[in-house]
Amino acid sequence: MTCECFYPQVIEARRSVRKYRVEGEIPREHLRVMMEAARRAPTDATLHLWSAVRVPRGDARRRISEAIGQRHVWEAQEFFVFVADLYRLERLLEYRGEEMGDVDRALLVFAAIDAGLAAENMALAAVALGYGTCFIGGIQNAAELVIRLLKLPRRTYPLFGLTIGVPGEDPPLRPRLPLDMLFHEGEYRDYSGEQLAEAYRVMAPYSRRGDWLRILKRYVARGGYFEERSKSMWRLLSSQGFRGFGGD
Ligand SMILES: Cc1cc2nc3c(=O)[nH]c(=O)nc-3n(C[C@H](O)[C@H](O)[C@H](O)COP(=O)(O)O)c2cc1C
Repeated sequence: MTCECFYPQVIEARRSVRKYRVEGEIPREHLRVMMEAARRAPTDATLHLWSAVRVPRGDARRRISEAIGQRHVWEAQEFFVFVADLYRLERLLEYRGEEMGDVDRALLVFAAIDAGLAAENMALAAVALGYGTCFIGGIQNAAELVIRLLKLPRRTYPLFGLTIGVPGEDPPLRPRLPLDMLFHEGEYRDYSGEQLAEAYRVMAPYSRRGDWLRILKRYVARGGYFEERSKSMWRLLSSQGFRGFGGD
């Protein structure tokens, strides 16, 4: 079977770009193509559980970039913050005299899926147009600030950012886990010692010292980033009016 569409090449071409040329702007019509690509993403039950806030180079962007220590957030021509959005849905229901049920926990998961699909569509459209992109989960480390600066209403929560810009670097294709660890045939199979060793071998380039475990530990071991994020996320979700996260 032949595929004449551009899609496979674009997927191969996409790498996280963390250096951008500071000069130049992305034309409005290119931005429009990227936004349309995001809009075309599938969305569970037609709910559109996401929004994105475009954050121009200005005070809010500078403060976010500094708070999370990621210069590419400031340097990229464009920066979007993708938001789990139950607020719009609530407004839509209220407009027709209906109330939302006890749905927030499940909807949050589906909002993250919807937002991720939309953002990846947008990133691939950006790559097809010659731009570089980088997802920015680091905004979780300053989620409260992001909520305040972007005036995110209750029942919304910032999930991740996406930088888009004129690339100032050409990074190599970065490795991924082997296909036979990601896909299971017929049923879920446990991993052999050889597969686990192979995983560390292929993923080694991510670490300057050549040991992927250092990265896993930094993020998910005791005291890792995600421990703190888990606590602050629940607290913030609750203060943002999400129900079922301990504050109601
Ligand atoms: C949800 C998500 C959050 C991410 N957060 C960050 C981030 O805060 N900063 C950053 O520089 N890269 C971030 N990345 C990019 C990953 O580090 C990158 O995708 C991974 O290292 C693989 O490299 P590649 O995209 O070039 O293949 C994130 C990616 C995803 C999907």
